[in-house]
Amino acid sequence: MSNKKNNQVSRRQFLNYTLTGVGGFMGAALIAPMVGFAVDPLLKGEKSGDFVYVLDVDEITETPQKVSFQVDQTDGWYESKVEKNAFVFYDSNGDILALSPVCTHLGCTVDWATEKEDEFFCPCHDGRYNAEGENIAGTPPTEPLHEYTFKVEEGKLYLSPETHARGGA
Ligand code: FES
Repeated sequence: MSNKKNNQVSRRQFLNYTLTGVGGFMGAALIAPMVGFAVDPLLKGEKSGDFVYVLDVDEITETPQKVSFQVDQTDGWYESKVEKNAFVFYDSNGDILALSPVCTHLGCTVDWATEKEDEFFCPCHDGRYNAEGENIAGTPPTEPLHEYTFKVEEGKLYLSPETHARGGA
């Protein structure tokens, strides 16, 4: 008789098990969406590789011309359009170059032919780059202007949203 009683679940134990189970289920149901919302941006892949049209190839000359274009940017949950700029021209080999105007010294904006006729110039610390965007020795920048990856389709030039380094001069 006493052995039988030991195997039985008391009313108190039954209530404890039931309330713990129901409480755990309700807690999980509340927390799961919050966790999903918090880590969602981490689970989404970066949008990249979206090339953007900037100008027709027959508009490109040997003189750098500044073009502006907009790219989509996702920062966590916030999506926005960001304006980018590039200097587009044919280099001395006749190849297309699309250079970032961001100075490789401390990030100011360079301009073309402001101080010297055939150089990029950064006004912040007198940084200079030659006509192909290579840093000139003796001025603050220690590497060439970065470049955009591009593609040409049906006579139109498309740039990638991001730039990459070209290697030191
Ligand atoms: S930021 Fe361009 S030279 Fe310093």
